[in-house]
Amino acid sequence: MAERPDACALVTGASRGIGAATAKSLARDGWPVAVNYRSDADGAAAVVAEIEASGGRAVALGADVASPEAADELLTGAESHFGVPVLALVNNAGIAADNLISMLGDEEWQRVIDTNLTGAFRLTRRALKSMLRARFGRIVNISSVVGLRANPGQANYAAAKAGLIAMTKTVTVEVARRGITANAVAPGWIDTDMTADVESELLSHVPARRAGTPEEVAACVSFLASDAAAYVNGAVLAVDGGLAA
Ligand SMILES: NC(=O)c1ccc[n+]([C@@H]2O[C@H](COP(=O)([O-])OP(=O)(O)OC[C@H]3O[C@@H](n4cnc5c(N)ncnc54)[C@H](OP(=O)(O)O)[C@@H]3O)[C@@H](O)[C@H]2O)c1
Repeated sequence: MAERPDACALVTGASRGIGAATAKSLARDGWPVAVNYRSDADGAAAVVAEIEASGGRAVALGADVASPEAADELLTGAESHFGVPVLALVNNAGIAADNLISMLGDEEWQRVIDTNLTGAFRLTRRALKSMLRARFGRIVNISSVVGLRANPGQANYAAAKAGLIAMTKTVTVEVARRGITANAVAPGWIDTDMTADVESELLSHVPARRAGTPEEVAACVSFLASDAAAYVNGAVLAVDGGLAA
């Protein structure tokens, strides 16, 4: 593993699921990785331990991305720990609070928007400072198939995930000339805690007839963060077994 000497990566919501797989994948690619979590300190510590056991470098950083202070805390924490700027940002932290729109409360709406969209906005704004200085950066936003096609009961989640795609494209056209790429990944049904309660007969709607794995999403993030993806800007990469096709 060749370590990147001049940069580190930050993955939000990396204590389990897609974020944990992404942190491990980026570490295998040579990035020192900041592993953010909200409440699951043990999960984050286990991800860090696994990365270190494989010869990589990682640090666990607790912060709620929905809080206005989180962006500065996380970027400052990662940069002071590793001594290099965060030049790869993966906005992965996300929650769902489902309800049909006629019963969807203001609190459920706001909590999902604050976590899934506003958190990514603040982190992107803060991370761009170092990226613009370095004239290099990789921003990957974990959206969802639900940002592309409707799913009943998820108006708040869909609005946040579609907003993330629109934000990604806007960021791209603002900063592409500075060597910074911003792309979105739109997972379909991925086997994590978030989908643990979903009825498995819904898998018959997935052309591949199976759920995806966190590692299959992480592989796409790794590609988008790599030098090989330097000319991929504003793309929405579906990782969904054909669900959005
Ligand atoms: N699973 C799917 O089928 C699927 C499909 C499409 C898109 N996605 C998206 O992929 C991302 C990861 O999903 P997942 O399935 O891996 O979810 P998950 O297993 O439920 O894990 C969620 C992760 O996000 C963290 N998190 C939640 N709220 C946070 C906050 N306010 N601040 C910081 N971290 C926070 C959690 O940290 P703690 O454990 O510390 O609370 C956890 O590490 C989400 O954005 C989700 O919307 C998932």
